[in-house]
Amino acid sequence: MTFADPLFRPFAHKGLRLPNRIVMAPMTRLKSSQQVPDEAVAAYYRRRAKGGVGLILTEGVSPEQKSASGYRRCPAFFGEAALEGWRKTAAAVTAAGGAIMPQLWHVGPFRTPNMAPYPDEPTLSPSGLLKPDAERVGEPMTDSQIADVIEGFAKSALYAKECGFAGVEIHGAHGYLIDTFFWPATNLRADGYGGSGASRRRFAIEIVKAVRDRVGPDFPILFRYSPARDRT
Ligand SMILES: Cc1cc2nc3c(=O)[nH]c(=O)nc-3n(C[C@H](O)[C@H](O)[C@H](O)COP(=O)(O)O)c2cc1C
Repeated sequence: MTFADPLFRPFAHKGLRLPNRIVMAPMTRLKSSQQVPDEAVAAYYRRRAKGGVGLILTEGVSPEQKSASGYRRCPAFFGEAALEGWRKTAAAVTAAGGAIMPQLWHVGPFRTPNMAPYPDEPTLSPSGLLKPDAERVGEPMTDSQIADVIEGFAKSALYAKECGFAGVEIHGAHGYLIDTFFWPATNLRADGYGGSGASRRRFAIEIVKAVRDRVGPDFPILFRYSPARDRT
C-alpha cells in the first residue's frame, strides 16, 4: 500500500457514490454565451470524468437571483435553456462513470454595475463594501434582498437535484457575497446579520437551511469557506 492508495478507493455516504476520492476544484470558464452551457461545456466535463475524476465541481454558476452574476459568459443555473444544458452535462458525466455538482456562486460586491442581462439590478453586499476602507459599491442589503438571495440558492439547488446532479456546492469563500458577511471588515451591519461571529454567519446558515429544506435530507450540500477572513 502507498500513501496515495486511499485516493483510489470508492467513496459512499448516504446517496453519494463516487468511484474514487479525486475531486476537481471549481474553475470559472466563462464559455457560456447568453449564460447557457452548450455541448462543448458538457463535453469538457465529460472528458474529466472519463479521465478518472471521481467528483467534479463545476465552475461557479449563478443561482436564481438577478444580481448573482458578475461576469459575461458565466453560466446561469436557472431558466429552461441553461437547465437543459446542465441536464445534458450531468447525464454525460454520469454516463462516463463520474459525479458532478454545480457550485452556486453569488458574486455580491464583485458585480460590475449595469451588467447585462439585468443592468437595472443593484450590486448586493452586507454593507456596500467590496473591501475595507474602499469606495462603496452599493447600498447595504435590505431584508427582502437577503430573503430573495436565500430563495435563489434554494431554487437552484432543487434544480440541481432535478437535473441529475449528485449534490450542490455553495460558494462561501474568496470575498464574494457570503464571505463578505463573514468578514467583519466588510460586514458593518448592526442588525441580526452583523456584529458577533454568530450573527455574521447567520446569512450562510439560512442559505444552507433553505437549501436543505428544499432538496431533502440525503442530497449532499458542500460549503466552500475561507477561514482566514472569518475571525471572531
Ligand atoms: C482559472 C481558475 C478559475 C477558478 N474559479 C473558481 C471558481 O469558480 N470557484 C472557486 O471556488 N474557486 C475557483 N478557483 C480556485 C480553484 O478552485 C482552486 O482553489 C485553486 O486553483 C487552487 O487550487 P490548488 O490548491 O489545487 O492549487 C479558480 C481557479 C482557477 C485557476
